[in-house]
Amino acid sequence: MPQFEQTLQTYQREINDALLRYLPAKTEIPHRLHEAMHYVTFNGGKRVRPVLVYATGQALNAPLETLHAPAAAIEMIHAYSLVHDDLPAMDDDDLRRGKPTCHKAFDEATAILSGDALLTLAFEVMSHVDAHSPSPENQLEMIALLAKASGNIGMVGGQAIDLESVGITLNLEQLKQMHAKKTGALIRVSTLLGAHAAGASTDETQSLGEYADAIGLAFQIRDDILDIEGDTATIGKPQGADIALNKPTYPALLGLDGAKKAALDLHEKALESLSVFDNKADTLRQLSAYIVKRDK
Ligand code: IPE
Ligand code: IPE
Ligand code: MG
Ligand code: MG
Ligand code: MG
Repeated sequence: MPQFEQTLQTYQREINDALLRYLPAKTEIPHRLHEAMHYVTFNGGKRVRPVLVYATGQALNAPLETLHAPAAAIEMIHAYSLVHDDLPAMDDDDLRRGKPTCHKAFDEATAILSGDALLTLAFEVMSHVDAHSPSPENQLEMIALLAKASGNIGMVGGQAIDLESVGITLNLEQLKQMHAKKTGALIRVSTLLGAHAAGASTDETQSLGEYADAIGLAFQIRDDILDIEGDTATIGKPQGADIALNKPTYPALLGLDGAKKAALDLHEKALESLSVFDNKADTLRQLSAYIVKRDK
């Protein structure tokens, strides 16, 4: 198996173990809530954001033990964002990761509550102190960064723009802004959490931030492309959902070829941003390539 796939699998195993340790058991009361939290966290996500936390931290020599909490927290917030994104009030999707969405498998109230609980638990996990925690200053800074990336100026703000923009033609700059918030913010903060956990310098953090902005936008462009070119069985969510809802997307604005070129240009930009790092950053380089080529 190629080195990158092995690394990916190792980090995927680490994040699954970490999530199991941090989530309450399914058997805890209230059962339905905890079952839903498990259902949406262990249903086959690619784990790109925690992999970014691990890969960035390890490129800068942070121990794995220091990275588990931010890796788990970001995946909980991501899982919550998808549960709410799929609700009837938002994208109204029935399929996620090849299985019924949370509100279909359970009910709408449970979907809303399990999202709320995952978001809150993420911050509990981030504020926990043990022998592997970063310095108190770094830990506080990481909590603030995660809060900003997740909330009104980050992911939630992007989702609001997404919903407001249905049926409206955004220009490229507006679309870029929307993508930067709704998807880019969590990808950027995944990288920054890894950097802060490792005690990165200001220059290193700046370069990693540029890398993350490039791959974050590329990630959502690829998601937009897969909505058209992918098949439901592979992507695990209904193909054509954006077109059905008249969503603003890169292919809608630039065409499929234009969108693909934009993603490849961003991959190049991401690699340039990493030029100051040695081969310990190779997983980050390969992750950028994976993001623009992935078929799910
Ligand atoms: C889907 O994210 C939503 C977007 C931000 C495009 P992912 O493609 O990372 O979803 P999973 O976690 O692998 O299912
Ligand atoms: C969702 O974007 C981004 C967030 C959940 C923050 P999409 O609506 O394009 O994601 P999918 O395609 O449903 O996974
Ligand atoms: Mg959406
Ligand atoms: Mg959606
Ligand atoms: Mg999408």
